[in-house]
Amino acid sequence: MFEEEKKFVESQLAKIKEQRAVFLVVEKGKKIVGAAQINLKEKIHAHVGHLGISLSKEVRDQGIGSKLLESILKQSVQELPSMKLIDLEVFIINDRAKHLYEKYGFKELGRLPKSIFYKDEYVDEIYMYREV
Ligand SMILES: CC(C)(COP(=O)(O)OP(=O)(O)OC[C@H]1O[C@@H](n2cnc3c(N)ncnc32)[C@H](O)[C@@H]1OP(=O)(O)O)[C@@H](O)C(=O)NCCC(=O)NCCS
Repeated sequence: MFEEEKKFVESQLAKIKEQRAVFLVVEKGKKIVGAAQINLKEKIHAHVGHLGISLSKEVRDQGIGSKLLESILKQSVQELPSMKLIDLEVFIINDRAKHLYEKYGFKELGRLPKSIFYKDEYVDEIYMYREV
């Protein structure tokens, strides 16, 4: 597990240096309680950034996700100048995350029915995008 995490951190650091990724963390005391990242895709999709964001349960619903998303959107414009588009996926049942993304200008482009097996049932995944 440690080896996998080490590889992940090394690859993220390399992408950040190459201006192909932005990675932000939220710290509470000495603990990391959240993270957001935008990674540029490869080749003909190299102008498309893929967004992920997650907070620990203890710090959700306090406005931190909004601040984190706002920060990574701003920072990615500065640090990833070749990026034209951001995309992401969200579970259909994740109303909070969908609301957050819509608040920051993401639009739904489609749904992949039953593409996730979660808590013993098949749920749809929503694909969203935002032009930079
Ligand atoms: C999604 C996540 C990043 C949001 O961060 P957060 O700090 O909890 O969110 P905020 O407090 O900044 O804002 C939440 C917004 O959603 C709204 N909201 C909360 N629950 C909601 C629900 N069930 N339905 C619709 N909106 C909801 C809040 O009212 C708030 O809206 P507002 O800013 O317009 O008032 C965080 O909750 C999280 O990490 N969740 C688990 C992992 C996850 O879902 N990641 C995204 C995967 S695609």
